[in-house]
Amino acid sequence: MKNRIAFLFIFFQMFTYHAFCQTDAVENKINALIEKMTLEEKIGQACLKGTSSRSKGLSDELKEQVRKGLVGAILNLTDTALVLQIQKIAVEESPNHIPLLFGRDVIHGYKTIFPIPLGLSATWNAAIAEQTSAVAAHESYARCINWTFAPMVDVCRDARWGRIAESPGEDPYLASVLTKAYIKGYQGEDLSAPGNILACTKHFAAYGAVEGGRDYNTVNISESLLRNVYLPPFKAAVEAGSATFMTSFNDVNGVPASGNSFLLKDVLREEWKYDGFVVSDWNSVTEMITHGYCADEKEVALKAATAGMDMEMTSQSYAHQLKVLIQEKKITEEQLNEIVRHILRIKFRAGVFENPYFKEKDSFKILDPASLELAKTSAVKSFVLLKNEKQILPLSTNKTVAVIGPLAHAHKEQLGTWIFDGDKTNSITPLTALLQTYATANVKYAAGLKYSRDESEEGFKEALAAAKKSEVILFFAGEEAILSGEAHSRADISLPGVQEKLIQALAKAGKPIILVIMAGRPITIDRILPNVAAVVMAWHPGTMAGPALADVLTGKENFSGRLTVTWPKTVGQIPIYYNHTNTGRPADSTSFVGIKDIPVEAWQSSLGNNSHYLDAGFTPRYTFGYGMSYTSFSYGDILLKKNTLDQSDSLKVTVTITNTGARTGTETVQLYIQDVSASIVRPVRELKAFTQVELKAGESREIQLSVPVAELGFYTNEGKYVVEPGTFNLWVAPDAASGAKQVFTVK
Ligand code: BGC
Repeated sequence: MKNRIAFLFIFFQMFTYHAFCQTDAVENKINALIEKMTLEEKIGQACLKGTSSRSKGLSDELKEQVRKGLVGAILNLTDTALVLQIQKIAVEESPNHIPLLFGRDVIHGYKTIFPIPLGLSATWNAAIAEQTSAVAAHESYARCINWTFAPMVDVCRDARWGRIAESPGEDPYLASVLTKAYIKGYQGEDLSAPGNILACTKHFAAYGAVEGGRDYNTVNISESLLRNVYLPPFKAAVEAGSATFMTSFNDVNGVPASGNSFLLKDVLREEWKYDGFVVSDWNSVTEMITHGYCADEKEVALKAATAGMDMEMTSQSYAHQLKVLIQEKKITEEQLNEIVRHILRIKFRAGVFENPYFKEKDSFKILDPASLELAKTSAVKSFVLLKNEKQILPLSTNKTVAVIGPLAHAHKEQLGTWIFDGDKTNSITPLTALLQTYATANVKYAAGLKYSRDESEEGFKEALAAAKKSEVILFFAGEEAILSGEAHSRADISLPGVQEKLIQALAKAGKPIILVIMAGRPITIDRILPNVAAVVMAWHPGTMAGPALADVLTGKENFSGRLTVTWPKTVGQIPIYYNHTNTGRPADSTSFVGIKDIPVEAWQSSLGNNSHYLDAGFTPRYTFGYGMSYTSFSYGDILLKKNTLDQSDSLKVTVTITNTGARTGTETVQLYIQDVSASIVRPVRELKAFTQVELKAGESREIQLSVPVAELGFYTNEGKYVVEPGTFNLWVAPDAASGAKQVFTVK
């Protein structure tokens, strides 16, 4: 035994020594290269040249700049021949032969389109996140892309924000788990191996907290909120080795993120020891002038470079101004060297010096059957069953069904936002899949509306006729892809156009309506909820939307998705999220006085009224973590291994989950805690662990969840991480609003 330990120790030492030497060798190479580079070439490495996402050719100007070594990377060049052509110029003709990086927004798939990230988050499944991003990486690499601008890890509590579609939802812990998985999928174990591409974790930081959900907006935020809610996934990204980071468009407490040295230097470099490079967002550097933070391009370059922003996307303040700033001694050449070091380090790590021309790229297949199968599985796992009155679902395949709604056969729309390379001709729609599942004569299709915003009622008659001839109505509602994503925020998040009106008209036919929503955000459905027997949230499911939906609707597959964002009843409740703090007068149902209960000429009094809305109450429509299944689960007693824990302990919880229904299903077991009394108020609940368990009908399994006490802490307003001794509440539950409370103490 002793020998074995000694052997392991020596092996470990050899291993770390080897890794150290390797790192050292790379750093030596970087420094040797920097020695040889002119000022112009160094600045060139910090320039990311944009071509439009639809651009077709290579301009002579771009070729010339690459030839002179004035470009570090290119984005949106998707013609592989052109990529290889310009790379050849960089490698063979530029002064120091430094290869380019080729960036692209591959957000939820390249050609095989997976559910939008908000949908993927609803799987609560890190393996799915990793597998889907690995496929996205392989398909991208096959098309000569070695850098994706993903994952987007902006925690978001505001469904009005269009970019919630790209986000991992409202919870920092779940977002962190998924972030690590995405990065592993894109970058693999070895970043330099063919097929793996660089991840770019974005948008640093707090972009999800934009005021009013309006894109690009202001963020005023306390340090504790920033660190406890918005930064954790970024920290996780550093831990997972994210090669690059992207700054965000918003300002944080008055300082735009692209010139924010608190974020880029103090937090990212000094605290988290990040050694990759930071790219700006598209023109976000020069937008600091419009923000009112810089007077001109020169100040922009000075502030961005001083703050620690390494590579400028599309705007050209570095190209135009850095040399002058160095000559004027406002920036030192060593500062520029440091920027270049960050960029070259990643180029070496990614192996682009050895492999500039995407070797073995043809071995990675686009739209491989296994990838399409994964697209289907991930979609199935992302669907959330929100209502199922009288168990109307699953539907028998012997029924006659009316297929209605603007998203029933909308090849482009089911793909969702950010699918530059996705192709609608590959989409299989719900209608197509249902026609393969049901006898053709049993499917009556009438869209009723041409697109989600359609306000014409012309198609209503035909839709009603289809409904009358059928036993069940499958209504595919939602938002077109373009209604969420960047710059597509909405003030009203109900179904656009006259979809509600059509649903209400159909309800009069007396046939049960199954509402399937495909959208980039939670949708407020209170006005039509009484009219529908079932509600399925399908997000924008991607290429395989149809087969995935047909399988869950007919019960071939079970539902297992759970919400990762709280659904409001009405948009006026936003921001509404499960992990809010308590007021001194928290809302509660026993004292709630609604708008209808207040007597006329009532005496002015706050009594009986707490922190809530008179007209919308205080509960959401659907809480975080919620989702139904075709089976049911029961939770046994929650047993704590120890009720009093030291700081070095782990909280260990055991619970037996039983499938009490009639078919196999997967339960997502969620562990929440509350630090009852602390030096700053803490959320009423915080997710700290979860696991998924698949159980056959009647089967029980004991599951264990464990959380290191070190992870029960929080950041104070001074930015200090503390685990404060005291009483904690604990729930192990199917969602954020249920479960029996337990108590434990941290010493
Ligand atoms: C978006 C980024 C994206 C970049 C490059 C920007 O407008 O905010 O998320 O990566 O464009 O396309």
